[in-house]
Amino acid sequence: MSWTLAITGKGGVGKTTLAALAVRWLTENGRGPVLAVDADPNTCLDVLLGVRVTSAVGSVREEARQIVQAHATSTGGMGKQHLLEMKIEQSLIETDRFDLIAMGRPEGPGCYCYANNVLSAALRKLADAYPAVVIDNEAGLENLSRRIVQRVDHLLFVADPSARGLATARRLYDLAVEMHIEAGVLGVVINRARDDQCLHRARGFFDGTPVEVFGSVPDDPEFGSRDAGGEPIWTLPRESPVFKAAEEIFRAPNPVVGTR
Ligand SMILES: Nc1ncnc2c1ncn2[C@@H]1O[C@H](COP(=O)(O)OP(=O)(O)OP(=O)(O)O)[C@@H](O)[C@H]1O
Ligand SMILES: [Mg+2]
Repeated sequence: MSWTLAITGKGGVGKTTLAALAVRWLTENGRGPVLAVDADPNTCLDVLLGVRVTSAVGSVREEARQIVQAHATSTGGMGKQHLLEMKIEQSLIETDRFDLIAMGRPEGPGCYCYANNVLSAALRKLADAYPAVVIDNEAGLENLSRRIVQRVDHLLFVADPSARGLATARRLYDLAVEMHIEAGVLGVVINRARDDQCLHRARGFFDGTPVEVFGSVPDDPEFGSRDAGGEPIWTLPRESPVFKAAEEIFRAPNPVVGTR
């Protein structure tokens, strides 16, 4: 059984950054190999992880639908499942420390519900082979509500430090509850923090909920320019404020990635 971390939040708050930091932390702390799942159709986790998803690979979701449609009558459930498992295996980008699968973008019109179900079962089987799985989601809760991943151990909301950003994160949490999204532990991380007040503010916004405030990552222009230049997370110096903050978050007493 693998341990799963899913990262969510509104657009541009730092989900992919936190996902990459989590992958690095896990692999450097004896929790790898990690399966990184890029569930954002606008694939970009690959760059931060220092690998490249080719366009041929980033189409798993579309292929799932095609396989499901093509075999709607001719093949039984197991046939479809097997084809999809093969497709997923072919799409896996493998490295020493982690493997990456990019889910790709649904291309055609039509319903992906059944395809998503088949995909989810195939993905679960793949995930079981890894001690840890990190899922970088697109903005909002769509992936989680589509049940591509059935259940996550930790669901991490990333928020920007403004009152509006925190209110949005709180709304996402309320929505997750409404959608019956299951998670063992719920947490919020404030990214691009400019002071310590944001942690206090965040506690206020999540008061009365099981969401724990895991900590904050400072706004670091140095990190921003490295990222803009396409530098992978692996070269981020240990003394970088972003790296240090992530370490604190991931090994905190009630750790984001410490227990199963
Ligand atoms: N702590 C930080 N300090 C400085 N810049 C940051 C920090 N965290 C993220 N950024 C920058 O903010 C931008 C958005 O980050 P990121 O891509 O991780 O967000 P996202 O939530 O995944 O966005 P999207 O919703 O588009 O997927 C990037 O340019 C990144 O370099
Ligand atoms: Mg992203």
